[in-house]
Amino acid sequence: MKNNIILIGFMGVGKGTTARAYSEKYGTFIIDTDDLIESKENRKIKTIFKEDGEKYFRKCEQQCSDWIEYSVDNSFISCGGGFYKVSNLNRLGVVVLLDASYDWIFNRLSTSDNAKSKLKKRPLFSEPEKAKALYAEREVEYKKASDIIIDVENKSLKDIVKEIHKRVNIFKNSTIY
Ligand code: S3P
Repeated sequence: MKNNIILIGFMGVGKGTTARAYSEKYGTFIIDTDDLIESKENRKIKTIFKEDGEKYFRKCEQQCSDWIEYSVDNSFISCGGGFYKVSNLNRLGVVVLLDASYDWIFNRLSTSDNAKSKLKKRPLFSEPEKAKALYAEREVEYKKASDIIIDVENKSLKDIVKEIHKRVNIFKNSTIY
C-alpha cells in the first residue's frame, strides 16, 4: 500500500490548515486536490462549477485520484469535501477523516479572519441550509470511507497533527497491506 495520508472531511473542517501544520512538523510534502484541479483546468473551482457544472468537477476529481494512484507516494494529500466518492480512494493511502459537527464547522468558517472569501470560494456553501443537508447526507459516508477518524472539535492544531501521526503509524503497523 502507498505511504500517503489522505485527509478527507467536510468543507471548512480545517483540512488545508491541518495539512500545512502537519508538513511543518514532519516535513512531508502536501498536495491539495482542489489546487491540482484548478491548475490543470487553469480556472477556479467556482468557475468550473459555473461553466461546466458539478458533474464535470466530479470527473476532474476522479482523474486527479487516478493520477495520485499511479504517480504520488510519501505525501500528505488534502482532499476536497466530495473527493471521498472517487472509486479508488483506499488505494491512495491511509484515509483519515477530520470529524466535527456541522455547527462547529459553520462557526469556524464564519468567524475566521477572511470568512467572506472562504464561504465565497465554496459553491456548495452558498446556501447554509443546503450545506447542512449535504452534511447530513455525507456524515455516515465519510466514516465508512475512512480508516481513522479524528475528532477535531475543541482540540489544538498541534494535538490534531500529533494524533494523526501517531494513529497513522499504529494503523500501518497493524495492517497487512
Ligand atoms: C466540495 C468541497 C470543496 C471543493 C468543491 C466541492 C464538496 O473543497 O472541492 O467546492 O463537494 O464538498 P473543500 O472541502 O476544500 O472546501
